[in-house]
Amino acid sequence: MKSIYLVGFMGSGKTSIATYLQSALKWSVQDTDQMIEEHYQMNIPTIFKEKGEETFREYETNILHMTNDQNTIVATGGGIIEKEVNRKWLQSNGTVVFLQTSWEEIERRLRDDVSRPIWNNQSRDKQQLLEKRLPKYLEVADYVIDTDGKNVEAIAAEILSKI
Ligand code: S3P
Repeated sequence: MKSIYLVGFMGSGKTSIATYLQSALKWSVQDTDQMIEEHYQMNIPTIFKEKGEETFREYETNILHMTNDQNTIVATGGGIIEKEVNRKWLQSNGTVVFLQTSWEEIERRLRDDVSRPIWNNQSRDKQQLLEKRLPKYLEVADYVIDTDGKNVEAIAAEILSKI
């Protein structure tokens, strides 16, 4: 079966849902952020700091093309949909599930986060970024799952009932 690509904003739960689906489906899991760090031997905050966001986006595109497009659950980075080439690739190669989460819920979940360079960049308007990205998530999505107020089990069950 085609791989499932989980897309959504930072804090939408892609990584935890991928892990949960892994045991339910007995598929493998890939995480594009983790693959970037392994492949380029640098952690994400360092890539942003030393190479800049544009280079990070190039790395992200390269890694997306290296993911398994069969029997794998792929947790993607929140900005994977920024590039048109990635949106096209996702649309033709995977079953794409958009984990839709409200701004209020994202703020709650990421209140204490210090690991995400964009989230922690005080000069970026993250709420505006979410609004700007929303049509791009919707453009690639085969399924949209509302995650607000739901736990990982409930979200995973909803995904399994749709695919
Ligand atoms: C980013 C989201 C992060 C990571 C990087 C950039 C973004 O992934 O790829 O920090 O642009 O939204 P998560 O969505 O897993 O936090």
